[in-house]
Amino acid sequence: MSSEPATQQRAALRPDLRIPAHIGVIMDGNGRWAKARGKPRTEGHVAGVRALRGIVESCINYGVGYLTVFSFSSENWTRPKDEISFIFQLLRRFVASDLEKLHRNNVRVKIIGSRDGLEDSLRRLIAEVEATTAVNTGLKLQVAFNYGGKAEIAEAVRRIASQVAAGRLKPEDITEETIGRALSTAGMPDPDLIIRTSGEQRFSNFLLWQSAYAELVFVEENWPDFDAASFLRVLEDYSSRDRRYGGVEAQQR
Ligand code: FPP
Repeated sequence: MSSEPATQQRAALRPDLRIPAHIGVIMDGNGRWAKARGKPRTEGHVAGVRALRGIVESCINYGVGYLTVFSFSSENWTRPKDEISFIFQLLRRFVASDLEKLHRNNVRVKIIGSRDGLEDSLRRLIAEVEATTAVNTGLKLQVAFNYGGKAEIAEAVRRIASQVAAGRLKPEDITEETIGRALSTAGMPDPDLIIRTSGEQRFSNFLLWQSAYAELVFVEENWPDFDAASFLRVLEDYSSRDRRYGGVEAQQR
């Protein structure tokens, strides 16, 4: 991973780029990447972790504030048992092999999603990675694991409803901010940009509430092929977008 001077150099090289404060990534196509090479799907996931390391490095280089990656959805439980346990193993290995480097690079790591169905040892590992990196002030990396946007909203509604039932909150005082604060992304800016790889054009239950005004970029590459050059192309595309948030173009205001 790069050092601070490299970051400044890179930013200075491309002052024309608008850097999103928060990027969400739906890392799709590991299985297809493997199939195209005659390899088992698990090899695709291993290559997917390599691509994840690459994008973390790119985000550090370009000074992105928040990166949220979708690594296991609440719907992925329907996959073959072996594949599920392999992905769980990959999360463990990713933490074990990369925690020290992430920490050294001032990255704060958070795992968002339900802890239900996760083994105690995995829960402990998640708590450890979050606690170790909690003090870091650089890139905020959220790994969405056992995550589903609808489940997250339902959980937020339950929390808010129990505050109302306890008399601590009036229904008329519930605002968009109240809901935002009850989500797992509380305190983070909403994603400016959502990237999905492998040519699919769906949200698949990722950051549903938070993506209301996100720019969407769909790329053809499968996730393991998504490298620094792909990331730069996406940033160029994003920089050319006119973000109006329901208003009019800047020159018409
Ligand atoms: C997407 O490809 C892969 C996933 C949703 C799960 C695995 C994610 C990774 C290996 C990246 C990093 C993971 C961790 C745990 C840090 P797919 O299997 O849906 O591919 P396909 O659509 O081509 O079958």
